[in-house]
Amino acid sequence: MPHLASRMSNAKASVIMQIAEKAKILKQEGHDIISFSVGVPNFLPAEHVYQAAREALENDNGQYLPGRGEVKLIDAYLKRLERNGFKGFQQKNIASGIGAKHVLYSLLYALVNEGDEILIPTPFWTTYQDIADLIGAQTQHLKCSSQQDYKLTAEQLESAINPKSKVFLFNNPSNPTGMVYSEAEVKAIGDVLEKHDLWIISDDIYNRMVFDDMGFHHLLKTNPALVDRMIIIDSISKSYGMPGWRVGMMAGPESVANAMVTLNSNSITNIPGVVGAAAAAAIEGPQDFADEMCVEFSKKRDLVMQTMARIELVSCPRPQGAFYAFPDISAAFGKHHNGRPVADDVAFSELLLETKGVAVVPGSAFGEEKSIRISYACPTEQLEDGLNRFSEFFNELV
Ligand SMILES: Cc1ncc(COP(=O)(O)O)c(C=O)c1O
Repeated sequence: MPHLASRMSNAKASVIMQIAEKAKILKQEGHDIISFSVGVPNFLPAEHVYQAAREALENDNGQYLPGRGEVKLIDAYLKRLERNGFKGFQQKNIASGIGAKHVLYSLLYALVNEGDEILIPTPFWTTYQDIADLIGAQTQHLKCSSQQDYKLTAEQLESAINPKSKVFLFNNPSNPTGMVYSEAEVKAIGDVLEKHDLWIISDDIYNRMVFDDMGFHHLLKTNPALVDRMIIIDSISKSYGMPGWRVGMMAGPESVANAMVTLNSNSITNIPGVVGAAAAAAIEGPQDFADEMCVEFSKKRDLVMQTMARIELVSCPRPQGAFYAFPDISAAFGKHHNGRPVADDVAFSELLLETKGVAVVPGSAFGEEKSIRISYACPTEQLEDGLNRFSEFFNELV
């Protein structure tokens, strides 16, 4: 039998998806499972989104569509950018893909040569590393500890940049930590970036989920001079309850948007029309639904933090956005649960799932083996139940 291409030896399935799948199977087998694993919102899109999809279906002619995205989707995104204070983008600066994950894959494919380096603040969303592995890129993990609230400092960035560095990948608010950068922190990073000729990918998919009146601060606003090298990524998945609809957007230099359209023409061809129409309605329509969800998430964050504060062996920087918490649980390493050792984050997560039915993702999947990720976007009752079980687990450690 012929072999798979050698590049597949670098390919890994998403750890998060694997854990979510395991939790789902255990549930189907009748186990009492609470999944804090995959980052999916627990609400459905607003009615006007479904209405737009129905209308598109009724008017459908079944044809291929533009690879950049249909004009109504591009224009909806342009208007949203403008409302968010990003001026000067035109249709030629925009492209769309099958989710932000696909947009990221295409962008890195288009920007990075084999051996070039991608600078990634760490902890990072697992897929950044997985895509880098697939396209043969090097990565430099800029480790941000829980003591620094998992946030990158300007000094760290400055000392990491070297001649091989090609892309800086910035994710704010962050998955997996839920941390949000202040304006001053963003500006300090922007000032460093102004001095170095790097592409900047700003993964902003959680930009509507910021709590505590922190505000969402963007490199392009603190440092507008970065515009020629800046690529913004957004998605409908989290804000509008549409992870399965699969639409991601990018805004950036014309050459980069065109590269994405070329790749689309050789891979996906286009976003399905019904999906594109629904995405346009979500992006352009009333945002109060997304705003209400944000308030919900901040209340859930408070529940998570109340539990974390009560557990002596846990230290958890207070998340201010998205729907993740990233507690440092390393003080539990070396202890035992019912005679079984908690050797590391993976053992911790396995024992927690087996004994308490709570699925979390080990921090090592995100480049930080001292922690675990809790995705708290589940119904409040489940969240409370899961958090109680989490506490119980710690009480039972010896
Ligand atoms: C930081 C980050 N970027 C991108 C994505 C991908 O989003 P999409 O569902 O649009 O592919 C995710 C999904 O979890 C994410 O957490």
